[in-house]
Amino acid sequence: MPLVIVATLVVSSMSAVLALVIVLVDLVVNNYGEVKIDVNDGAKTLTVKGGSSLLSTLGGEGIFIPSSCGGRATCGVCKVRVASDVGPHLPTELPFMSGAEIKDNIRLSCQIKVKADIKIVIPEELFAIQRHRARVAEIVDLTYDTKLIRFSLLEPAEMKFTSGQFAQIVVPPYERVREETVRAYSFASTPARPNEVEFIVRLVPGGTATTYLHKHLAVGQELAVVGPMGEFRLHDNEAAMICIAGGSGMAPIKSILFDMRERGIGKPAVWYFFGAVSKRDLYLVDLFRELEASWPSFHFVPALSAPLPDDHWDGETGLVTTVTKKYMDEKMDKSAPKEAYLCGSPGMIDASVALLKSEGIPEDKIYYDKFS
Ligand SMILES: Cc1cc2nc3c(=O)[nH]c(=O)nc-3n(C[C@H](O)[C@H](O)[C@H](O)COP(=O)(O)OP(=O)(O)OC[C@H]3O[C@@H](n4cnc5c(N)ncnc54)[C@H](O)[C@@H]3O)c2cc1C
Ligand code: FES
Repeated sequence: MPLVIVATLVVSSMSAVLALVIVLVDLVVNNYGEVKIDVNDGAKTLTVKGGSSLLSTLGGEGIFIPSSCGGRATCGVCKVRVASDVGPHLPTELPFMSGAEIKDNIRLSCQIKVKADIKIVIPEELFAIQRHRARVAEIVDLTYDTKLIRFSLLEPAEMKFTSGQFAQIVVPPYERVREETVRAYSFASTPARPNEVEFIVRLVPGGTATTYLHKHLAVGQELAVVGPMGEFRLHDNEAAMICIAGGSGMAPIKSILFDMRERGIGKPAVWYFFGAVSKRDLYLVDLFRELEASWPSFHFVPALSAPLPDDHWDGETGLVTTVTKKYMDEKMDKSAPKEAYLCGSPGMIDASVALLKSEGIPEDKIYYDKFS
């Protein structure tokens, strides 16, 4: 037999043996058998197959912990309190934990594996989160890289959310992506239409979910939407309201402002600063101008950080934080109590929080969702 064929046979046999050994080791080492998850001190007891992350195990049982990055330990959203010993915090968890959270054994549910019986404590409202079958009803190009996607909910046919919250869009496997991809998107629509939900999705070049949602998703297609989730929402008080958003951070602010109008909720003054680079990044300007015309205490201020000569821009120019500061110093009542609602990239949020604190807004009156 030629040497090359013998060599090929030997290499293939060795690979097959190696694969078999890996499968056997996985079966032995990672076989934790059945384990029990005690939820909220006996309120629910789940018997599950051990070995997977707490996040995915609970999801398989219909308990959806809010999360955004699909378990990559980059969003820090999937926190739960673990009331039994699951070992020390992992290096991947620590960047997201305060000292108090570490003491309280708050954990990233995507990072801990269910290997033995475990006790967890989660807020009751998480039991209301459901996985909905949804059909794409409309896709609208808002800019060159931002789309509005509207879903009709099929089963369950309604999602009772609060403006400011988010849902997870479950992107099916496609091309070289072998598994479902789960990402968070804030509602852009209002709770008045619980049978339809709208999202504003900005394309992240090379991004797994946004590439699918921008380049593959079609009207009529069905996929899953899980929600509602999140703590970002309107607070009931008499403070003047400052909203700052950039990019797709428009979504929850739009939902909150239109929800206020629909429900007749007033505030002494409402300012909305929307930051974009140049005119091609601006959208829904006419919609907010119309809102401004019908709502005397509402002011919409789009700001461009780098308008192009062809933009012929005569609006505010500069970083959205610089423009916000200008308006706070020159146009707002300095002594009036204020609160702030921020949405967008972590960098924009951090810069906005620093500005608002320096302008005297207490930290506990600054609410935000970082689109990390
Ligand atoms: C609470 C919450 C609400 C959100 N709401 C919205 C929303 O309404 N609309 C929306 O478009 N997005 C929103 N996001 C962001 C969204 O969940 C995804 O992270 C984003 O769409 C990227 O997903 P992807 O799978 O395409 O990219 P990934 O495959 O996850 O990322 C690819 C690469 O791009 C980087 N990256 C990820 N996100 C960004 C970003 N935004 N800008 C620059 N680089 C990035 C990653 O670090 C990675 O290197 C929200 C996030 C959170 C936490
Ligand atoms: S899902 Fe756990 S950190 Fe993002």
